[in-house]
Amino acid sequence: MDKQQLALIIPAAGSGERLGGDVPKPYLELAGKTILEHSLLKFKQVSGLGEVIVSTSAKYVTQTEEMLATIFPDVSCFVVKGGKERQDSIRNALEKISGKTGLVAVHDAVRPFITVQDIEKCVEKASLWGGAVLAIKAKDTIKISGTDMEIVQTPDRKNLWHAQTPQIFWAALIREAYDYAEKYNIYGSDDSSLVEQVGGKVVLVQGSDINFKITYPLDLKIAEYLAKSEKL
Ligand code: C5P
Repeated sequence: MDKQQLALIIPAAGSGERLGGDVPKPYLELAGKTILEHSLLKFKQVSGLGEVIVSTSAKYVTQTEEMLATIFPDVSCFVVKGGKERQDSIRNALEKISGKTGLVAVHDAVRPFITVQDIEKCVEKASLWGGAVLAIKAKDTIKISGTDMEIVQTPDRKNLWHAQTPQIFWAALIREAYDYAEKYNIYGSDDSSLVEQVGGKVVLVQGSDINFKITYPLDLKIAEYLAKSEKL
């Protein structure tokens, strides 16, 4: 199969309220670069990358445009305004994807420790099946709670995974999924759940826990430690 052109969508429009502080998470610095720059630099090394679209808040548009022009001088790049939910931010970005794109990768700005090898594993599986999601096995037992905090179910841990990003799909499939979600006002906590709704086949690709999402203050402390020990 010919290698398909890959478009990258990075949602970076979150307010970062769980972390506190004025600067949104993607624009905090780790080892002299913003978290968003670290994430973008990982994708720069992936072959077949033809387009990059970042969704961000109005205040950060210019900074992000300059960042993209520096990192990707030869790739077509756009910055779009984010929306209320992550899904709205990605919806806005999807509108910029060109007809030349075969595969669309969505990657959270705040997962700067993604490895190039894991991105490429995911690209390969998505190209074959239609969708691929990097994921790690649940290490804790997961409980499903009821309204009074009572446990209503304990699913078998061996089938439980934590979905990460990148989540990569055939371009036509993710467009169909987002159109369907918009039409029926469906919101999912990840992109794969929308693709699953339209019957798309999505496979899990074993990732690594280093690809954690910087969400809470402790995550930022760990990220700072890792960045200092040159793990970025
Ligand atoms: O807050 P959450 O963990 O869902 O954020 C995941 C990613 O989605 C972050 O990179 C964040 O900046 C982005 N996001 C966005 N638009 C929103 C909410 C989150 O682009 N409305």
